Amino acid sequence: MEDLAPGTVLDGRFVVRRRLGAGGFGTVYLADQRVFDVTLRQVALKLFHRGLVTEANAREQLNDAVVLMRLQEEEDHPEASRHLITVLDAGFLREPEPRAFVAMEHAAGYRLAGGGTARTLRDLVDAFRPVPVELALRWITQVLRAVAWMHALDPPVLHCDLKADNVLPDGPDALKVADFGLAQLAFGAVGLWGGAGALTCQSPETLAGVEPTPASDVYSLGLLLHEVLAGRHPFHEVDLAATAAGDDEAGRRRRHVEARRTGPARLTEADNPDLVDHPLLGEVIAKCLRFRATERYGNAAVLLDEIGAYTSGGELTVSLPGVRVPEGATELRRLLAEAEAFRRRGRPAEARERAGAALARFPGEAAPHASLARLSLTPADWPAALRLCAAGLALPDLSPADAAELLDLSAEAYETGGQPSLAARMRERAAAARKGRRR
Ligand SMILES: Nc1ncnc2c1ncn2[C@@H]1O[C@H](COP(=O)(O)OP(=O)(O)OP(=O)(O)O)[C@@H](O)[C@H]1O
Ligand SMILES: [Mg+2]
Repeated sequence: MEDLAPGTVLDGRFVVRRRLGAGGFGTVYLADQRVFDVTLRQVALKLFHRGLVTEANAREQLNDAVVLMRLQEEEDHPEASRHLITVLDAGFLREPEPRAFVAMEHAAGYRLAGGGTARTLRDLVDAFRPVPVELALRWITQVLRAVAWMHALDPPVLHCDLKADNVLPDGPDALKVADFGLAQLAFGAVGLWGGAGALTCQSPETLAGVEPTPASDVYSLGLLLHEVLAGRHPFHEVDLAATAAGDDEAGRRRRHVEARRTGPARLTEADNPDLVDHPLLGEVIAKCLRFRATERYGNAAVLLDEIGAYTSGGELTVSLPGVRVPEGATELRRLLAEAEAFRRRGRPAEARERAGAALARFPGEAAPHASLARLSLTPADWPAALRLCAAGLALPDLSPADAAELLDLSAEAYETGGQPSLAARMRERAAAARKGRRR
């Protein structure tokens, strides 16, 4: 369909004011909603591609949107509603030509101090890059409130197209998630178009054509958090490579699945200087982006809890696969992460204080011994580093990996102290420990 000119009347019910944009499903217009000749309100009117929704399947394809319309009438979830674009009407129009539509609340955007208007979260990220962590978490929390509510419904309503273009600023302090209730279409659309945007934001299982679950949305939320913090989409390069190689749809999809197997590189301060103070956030993102859906946060509500715990107490509540987590270990990891952050910032005194606190609280764990030994690897302190390693090596139940690490640190201490032959012996023992023998 040609773009509709301002003033075009659709079935006497909507009058086009201007085009807002277009996406995978169709075109969105700002329109007046009318009853007879009375204008009720302005709406964002999404007209679907003709091949996508027909008069025959409109009822089924838009079913979730209709369910949500009804649920949004119930006012017992104000926090979720505030961050959700309200669907006002849906159905089928015949004039000027047959089209399925959804009429939604129009999000006004956010007027930027430097001029211009941010219409989507992507515009906001561009304007604020690098986004301070506190702001990024405030944004993502708003998105999560809406998605968590949807996931908590019985049966859960999935989004399946969570991305920065579907998060719309509405005034200075609210973000709203758009296009909820179109999951069936979104899932179909990955197969139909596979255009750059459609594939980059999808989970590995949706790319493979497997039925999505709430954990699939969690994957997309992890990508969103990564994008907000880094200021760029983590799989942008995958798309560029696919385009450069002239991949067909299947090739592009394969390339995307492969990229998800390893995941994007962990975020570092090079991506956002604020991350120096927030080393644990990388773990949250990594958990969202686990290849296997069962290893992620189960749904958006669990992720919301995790981010809530982090923002209120600076701690994470959920342990990570592959990490031994004894009682109180969250505290241990927080202290060590802080020590590491100070070390990388070139502030050894604070780093030692944090690592020292970790050792005092968790004397039976190898990690604080290793951390403090690493911080002591200076020409003046190398004997202290050795003592710490020795104390660590004497711990009961030491794993071969921890033993190897402490032996490597001992080797470094001997090297710093100018004792290369002892350093070499320690390296041999470390290699033996890595092969499974303890020491
Ligand atoms: N409710 C709304 N209020 C204000 N602007 C909107 C609204 N819905 C969509 N838009 C604008 O229209 C543009 C196109 O939206 P559309 O949903 O068609 O595409 P998309 O979000 O980029 O991709 P997708 O089709 O995957 O959702 C958006 O980028 C946004 O600027
Ligand atoms: Mg959209």
